[in-house]
This record gives sequence, C-alpha cells and structure tokens, in this order.
Amino acid sequence: MSTPLTVVVLAAGQGTRMKSDLPKVLHTLAGQPMLARVVDSARSLNPQAIHVVYGHGGERVREQLSALPVNWILQSRQLGTGHAVDQAMAQIADSQTVLVLYGDVPLISPQTLSRLVAAAENRSLGLLTAELPDPTGYGRIVRDAAGSVQSIVEQKDATAEQLAIAEINTGMLAVNAALLRGWLKRIDNSNAQGEYYLTDIVALAAGSDVPINAISTADLAEIEGVNNRLQLAELERVLQRRQADHLMLEGVTLRDPARFDLRGSLDFGRDVEIDINVLIEGEVTIGDRCYIGPNCILKDVVLGSDVRIEANSVLQASSIGNHCLIGPFARLRPDCRLADGVKVGNFVEVKKSTVDKGSKINHLSYVGDTRMGANVNVGAGAITCNYDGANKHLTIIGDDVFIGSDSQLVAPVTIGDGATIGAGSTITRDVPAGELTLSRSEQKTRKGWKRPVKCKP
Ligand code: UD1
Ligand code: CA
Repeated sequence: MSTPLTVVVLAAGQGTRMKSDLPKVLHTLAGQPMLARVVDSARSLNPQAIHVVYGHGGERVREQLSALPVNWILQSRQLGTGHAVDQAMAQIADSQTVLVLYGDVPLISPQTLSRLVAAAENRSLGLLTAELPDPTGYGRIVRDAAGSVQSIVEQKDATAEQLAIAEINTGMLAVNAALLRGWLKRIDNSNAQGEYYLTDIVALAAGSDVPINAISTADLAEIEGVNNRLQLAELERVLQRRQADHLMLEGVTLRDPARFDLRGSLDFGRDVEIDINVLIEGEVTIGDRCYIGPNCILKDVVLGSDVRIEANSVLQASSIGNHCLIGPFARLRPDCRLADGVKVGNFVEVKKSTVDKGSKINHLSYVGDTRMGANVNVGAGAITCNYDGANKHLTIIGDDVFIGSDSQLVAPVTIGDGATIGAGSTITRDVPAGELTLSRSEQKTRKGWKRPVKCKP
C-alpha cells in the first residue's frame, strides 16, 4: 500500500503579465480554466485532499470554481512558494505524502504525477526536473560530482557557473508531510528576491541524507507554465493538436487537424467526418457516418447516425435523430428535438421545438416554441409568431400539414392534421384538419394601367 496523498496547488500569484482583469488561473485552455485542469489531473491520483492556495483578489477564482472538490486556503500576501505551501500544512497530517502542483502549469499529466509520487516513497524527496535548451528564468538543479542532487538555485541567486546548468526545476515535487513541515520551519527569505523559497528544502533534504529522486518527462509541454497570453495560445495549440491526433487515431476523419477545436468532450461513432474550422463545445455525441461541414459550431448536442450538418451551421443544446439534414446556414437554439429524417435548411432558426419524423423546414423560417408533427412541409419564409411582446406561446402543428410560403402562424394556435395553409396567410385562429385555409386579399388586375414616366425638366 502506498501512503495517503494530499495535493497542494499553488495559485496565489497575481499573473500580472496576462494584463487581465481575470485571475490568471481562470484563463481557459480548451474551454476549461487552467486551475480546473490541474485539479482534474490531481484527482486521477485519488488524493485524500486537494488544497488550493489562492491569493488576495482571488475570490473570483473561488467563486467561479466553487464546484471543484478542493479546500481553499487564502495566502493573503505572496511571500514566496515556501510560504504558500506552509499555509496548507496546518491541515495536513504527518503521515501524508504531499504533492505540490501549480495552477498555471496546466498540461501536467496523471502519468507523470503518479511517477513523481512514487519517487517520494520511503521518505524520499521526489523532484520533477527537465533539461531545457534555454533554462533562463528557472531554478537550476545543482548536483555533486557523484550526480546526487544537492540544491536548487534560483536564476537571480545563481553564479555564472550555475547559470550554465541546463537541468531545471519544474517546481513540482512530492515528499512526506512531516519532513516538509520540518524543512519549511527552517527556510528564510535571505535571498535575491526576499522570498521564502520552497526550493530551499532541497538543500535541507540533501543535508539530512533524505534521498532525492529527480525524475523527468520527455514531454516539455507538461511542465510549461503560463505567464502571458502568448504561452497560453501555445499550450492551447499543443492541447488541441493532441486531442485531434487522438480522435483521428480512434477513427474520426478531420480534414485539417490544425483547424479543429474541441472544448469539452466528444463521443463519436464510426466513420465520422469533420470538415475544416469546426468547433465542438461542451458534451457532444455524434453517431455513425455523420458529416460536419466547414465552419460549424456544435455545443451540447446529440446527433444520431447518418446526419449531415452542412457548412456554417450553429447548433446548441439540442438532439437530432438519424438521417437528418441540417444547413447550410442553419441555427438550432437550445431545446430542439428533431426526429429521424428531418430537414432544416438554409437561414432557418429553430428554438425550443420538437419536429417529428420526415418534416422539412427548408428555407428562411423561424420555428419557436412549436410542436410539429411528422411529414410537415414548411414553405419558404414561413414563421411562427411565438412572442406577443410579453409572453411566449405555443404553436401546435399536426402531421402531414403543408404550410404555404411566407405564412405567419400567430401563437397560440393549432393546425390540424393534413391541413393546407395557402401561401402568404396570417393565421390567428386554429386551423381545421384536412382543409385548405388561407387569409389573403383577392388579387386584382387594372387593365390598361400605365407606369408613371419621368417628367422632362
Ligand atoms: C519557481 C521555482 C523555480 C522553478 C519555477 C518553475 C521557487 C522559489 N522557484 O520559480 O525553481 O524553476 O517556479 O516555473 O519556488 N505562488 C504562490 N504564492 C507565492 C508565490 C508563488 O501561490 O507566494 C505560486 C504562483 O502563483 C505560481 C507558482 O507559485 O503559480 C510559482 O511562483 P513564481 O513566483 O512564478 O515562481 P518562479 O519564480 O517562477
Ligand atoms: Ca513562474
């Protein structure tokens, strides 16, 4: 049995280089706040507790991420990483292994974390280090002639010789809580930055013969921190490319993985094809043999099988049956349920409506708050008038109804099964089943009428 684990995530830094009113760790990667990603990775290790150290002004972090299963600890003044970890120690029992993570190092993987925790077994200090072509700015790992880690020296405190060391401290470490507590009591702030450095515990560990196990990862994106929006964008592209690679290897065709974004989770069937510039958000399910055309946005939608979403369509919080054809330029607003074989064509907006099997709304329509039966044909430009300026009302359309082009159905109104509505009608009362109903002034012709001609000056 391995020892029980407690995670401490440092997230109190100001993040001034983001030049943002939003606290740094709330900036998102693939739609998820950086801190939430780190907490997700930490949770995969089943820790007994996760403490998040947040800073002054970080109340927004706490509010916005209140659903996270973490214990919030305020560090009211940022006196250094050692001081930050120390804020959590009062709540951590001696028997625990403490894993220190950073809210602004968002791509750390569960696999690397479990190796780091393993490196702290048997009262050892586990350190995550990396060799960088340009180590500028990082703490350097100082080893003795035998190769054992002796200390970490910060950039601002390093000698010229130490600055030449390529092995850097990622900041992430794991160690027994009792040892950590003892060392944190002994560190001070007599250094170039006047901070309590967590990294000073390394020399104390070496001095008390605690074994130091430095592990590394080949994947440098895992250890990269975000200090500005340039770095945020770089990690976004790394993450997006990884998600895209995964989808392709699992059988999804992406016409261009560089022009695909997933901000959430995607469940998919076989032979799904996704064309360029598609954004998938929230929780999306796509059935077998679906095609998603260029420039589509799908958020929280479920598609059956053999569905085609043509270019430039925007779909949200809706479900779509099998063999449906949507778009191009269609918009499904929240709460639409389309049965099998439904067609929603160009410049059609559907909101909070159910559409039964085989019905077609092909051109330039608005259908809102509607229950539509099967095999209905909605002509071009027909709309429901669901809003009277104060309240929304329901439109009920039976099966096999034909609604002529440019009709307005003023809700609340019910159209009986098999009814036909003549083009250009304004329907304000219920329509009987099986009959032709129209409201239209009679057409006239003025024989011999002449067009006006322009007067000569
Ligand atoms: C730290 C390490 C350095 C390492 C680098 C990796 C120390 C002394 N140095 O340096 O060896 O190479 O990270 O990026 O630890 N934080 C708090 N409270 C504080 C201070 C910091 O929560 O009082 C948090 C920050 O939000 C940030 C993290 O700790 O997420 C690191 O702090 P930062 O000041 O950026 O440390 P570095 O100078 O980068
Ligand atoms: Ca940093």
